Amino acid sequence: MPDFKIAPSILSADFARLGEEVDHVLASGADIVHFDVMDNHYVPNLTIGPMVCKALRNHGVTAPIDVHLMVSPVDRIIGDFIEAGASWITFHPEASDHIDRSLQLIREGGCKSGLVFNPATPLHYLDYVLDKVDVVLLMSVNPGFGGQKFIPATLEKLRQARKIIDNSGYDIRLEIDGGVGIQNIREIAEAGADTFVAGSAIFNTDDYKATIDAMRAELAQ
Ligand code: DX5
Ligand code: ZN
Repeated sequence: MPDFKIAPSILSADFARLGEEVDHVLASGADIVHFDVMDNHYVPNLTIGPMVCKALRNHGVTAPIDVHLMVSPVDRIIGDFIEAGASWITFHPEASDHIDRSLQLIREGGCKSGLVFNPATPLHYLDYVLDKVDVVLLMSVNPGFGGQKFIPATLEKLRQARKIIDNSGYDIRLEIDGGVGIQNIREIAEAGADTFVAGSAIFNTDDYKATIDAMRAELAQ
């Protein structure tokens, strides 16, 4: 069985109690904290930045923080997130003027680097940078908001991405983001994903542990 990881998106957490929420979801069995950064420019919503990432580290969070940049330009903010304690930094290739350079900046800062693909963005952005990528993140909704419905065409795209990764021989995680829940996590894993972002499916339930346990039970089948 692949080394599956569950990454709750704190976009759906209660921001007024963020430290507590992150502690709670990690104590409930989450592996990674998914941190959505939106700039009201690349996507039509505005969220949190490096100061909040740093605040979580100061609060005592030691789990990996997976920073999903939905911002343009990209490079200007990478250094701030490295300083703030990010573990993974992923960005959308359309938002970067120099994709190769952005990937290098992330790795030079000691973080894992990744590209994020919107539902209609082709995977060929990977062609010449596979050696500089640690994570491929496929969006299964259009970015900007939590609580949207999973776009089924992403399953075929996951299968394609899985082939590309396996053929490359590199150690690259395949992450999925958007509309993931107990009801579809298994078919998403069967299509090739190994890292699962879930926001509303976890934070909109009363019992985070029961939800994460149910996701793992689906993955174990
Ligand atoms: C959307 C974000 C997602 C979002 C997922 O732009 O990148 O991480 O929080 O939310 P759910 O799991 O509710 O679809
Ligand atoms: Zn995200």
